[in-house]
Amino acid sequence: MTTGKIFANWDDNHSRLWSHRPIRLEHTMHKQPAFSMDDLAKLIEHYPREHYSLVKTGAKGSSRVWREGEIGRLRGHQVIEAISRGGLWLNLRNVTAIDRRYRDMIERMFGEIAAKVPGFDAPTHQAGILISSPDAQVYYHADLPGQGLVQIAGRKRVYIYPSTQPFIRPEHLENIALFDVEVDIPYEPWYD
Ligand SMILES: [Fe+2]
Repeated sequence: MTTGKIFANWDDNHSRLWSHRPIRLEHTMHKQPAFSMDDLAKLIEHYPREHYSLVKTGAKGSSRVWREGEIGRLRGHQVIEAISRGGLWLNLRNVTAIDRRYRDMIERMFGEIAAKVPGFDAPTHQAGILISSPDAQVYYHADLPGQGLVQIAGRKRVYIYPSTQPFIRPEHLENIALFDVEVDIPYEPWYD
């Protein structure tokens, strides 16, 4: 495991905004060997079946059609190659429970945050690795507070909507908290 700081440009304003507003930070995690294509390919090859989701995504603008599939006997590099051609999305769920290297990174990250945000209490946490096609899209949804995205490679465009009505209603939040149905909230194109 390498040492050195994970957050490269943290300043006092980030400390003040933390947990109140979405914030964007530079980080160094992409330099970790565990995120090299070779290491990711190996991780994919040995990932327990019950802990990954391989999803065929719908084309942009299509209705919400997702089909789940299996990696089967493909080598890790072949899986990554297939994803690069489009229409796929691989979620290595709960990687922090499967592989120590990623848990160590997340723990170091929370350690740095705790040193910068007074009163920050490192939460019980879970993290997964998403490997998605250039054309992959995620549908309008809401996550409960406490989510983070660590972008490692490539580009991702994130749309953030107001956390008020009509974009989300109290009964949606209740459904998400109780039943985990975070993609089941109504979306209108004009929201964008
Ligand atoms: Fe999300």
